[in-house]
Amino acid sequence: MEDKGVKIDEPAGKLGVLLVGLGAVSTTFIAGVEAIKKGIGKPIGSLTQMGTVRLGKRTESRIPRIIDFVPLARLEDMVFGAWDLFEDDALAAAREAGVLENDLLRQLEPELSAIRPMKAIFDKRYVKKLDGTHVKQGATKWHLAQQLIEEIRRFQQDNSIARSVMVWCGSTEIFIRPGQVHQSLESLEAGLKSNDEDIPSSMIYAYAALKLGIPYANGAPNLTVDVPAFAELARERRVAICGKDFKTGQTLMKTILAPGLKARLIGLEGWFSTNILGNRDGEVLDDPESFKTKEESKLSVLEHILQPEVYPQLYDDFYHKVRINYYPPRRDNKEGWDNLDIFGWLGYPMQIKIDFLCRDSILAAPLVLDLVLFLDLARRAGMHGLQEWLSFYFKSPMTLPELYPEHDLFIQLMKLKNTLRYLRGEDQITHLGLDYYQ
Ligand SMILES: NC(=O)c1ccc[n+]([C@@H]2O[C@H](COP(=O)([O-])OP(=O)(O)OC[C@H]3O[C@@H](n4cnc5c(N)ncnc54)[C@H](O)[C@@H]3O)[C@@H](O)[C@H]2O)c1
Repeated sequence: MEDKGVKIDEPAGKLGVLLVGLGAVSTTFIAGVEAIKKGIGKPIGSLTQMGTVRLGKRTESRIPRIIDFVPLARLEDMVFGAWDLFEDDALAAAREAGVLENDLLRQLEPELSAIRPMKAIFDKRYVKKLDGTHVKQGATKWHLAQQLIEEIRRFQQDNSIARSVMVWCGSTEIFIRPGQVHQSLESLEAGLKSNDEDIPSSMIYAYAALKLGIPYANGAPNLTVDVPAFAELARERRVAICGKDFKTGQTLMKTILAPGLKARLIGLEGWFSTNILGNRDGEVLDDPESFKTKEESKLSVLEHILQPEVYPQLYDDFYHKVRINYYPPRRDNKEGWDNLDIFGWLGYPMQIKIDFLCRDSILAAPLVLDLVLFLDLARRAGMHGLQEWLSFYFKSPMTLPELYPEHDLFIQLMKLKNTLRYLRGEDQITHLGLDYYQ
């Protein structure tokens, strides 16, 4: 380790990867890691595995791979643990999800069938479309949290795990507004004991993780750690948190395209997004209360990127609509259509149409891998609390209350790479470049 930069502990020992929900995203991620380890798959889409970072001046030609630049845990050191309200092991769950081909799954049979989910903390009130029996019982939410803490401790001991990271890959819960119970750690703990309605299952998992000093990433749009009580707990336990809602599919496209339109000062009159998907996530989102959580997450993106208050002539009152339609025959192979009504020079109208035949979980899996590795890096670098540099991965990046979230994918990437440069004591890249010409 050099003198410059931040002291980062080496990633010694095993890394527990705790996944809440063993559905399409989780199984595609786990199967992918196992396939990569066997040399029968490539980590496409993963910044930690394939990305590079430019250092110093362009004339220096120093462009290390991120994996060689910062000390990341090795895939070989990952030990997977998961919870689900269905008993299927990871192989059966992957087959049910229907994302990966049977041929590939057959080659990963021993690894996947060995991963059996632990009993979930689940309450149908928060995910109306699901019913399962593989569920923990407890007198109060507090008791459930204590059971979970014990279970995680046991899992870590039994597998000789040095550190863990938890990622919520469970279903989207109903929309919940931040309330009194979320305002402080004290009120949250009192709420766990009194079974407060505003504490959904996801918060119980997050509470257990943070209590144990385990970093937590939220892959769904649920409120979960995006409230003051968890900010306080993260501070107290010096744990890293980030969220919300993996940025894949149509929203990824929005945050690629919208910065480009704004850069060229092209106006927007309306953006209509609709899609069909037929996986379990689609079924859960067919419930209006779960959809509301997702909708809020998807809608905020354009407002923040286009800044109508700064560019009223271009973006005042643009119409933005997002629809999700559950259509079982498509399973995980979503099709998303976007229609953009834009205008240029002298106000002349134009249109852009996007037909994205995407595979949701194929886009989400590398994000899970990167989040696990970067959160573990953050922990070993002594970074705790909200990790805004990981906004790159989320549709609704969490920020301090006084800041607006940064949605532009390219600014998010710059922020992420500058954070890595900072950790290693390298100069920040400003792209000024005047000195080359003087
Ligand atoms: N695939 C993507 O591109 C993408 C993008 C952004 C967000 N997400 C979100 O990620 C999450 C996972 O997506 P998916 O496609 O894997 O969905 P999925 O339905 O295939 O898997 C979710 C799993 O979570 C389980 N679950 C639900 N509540 C639980 C609880 N309280 N405890 C334990 N398990 C629980 C379900 O039984 C299910 O097996 C969803 O919330 C989805 O909205 C996915």
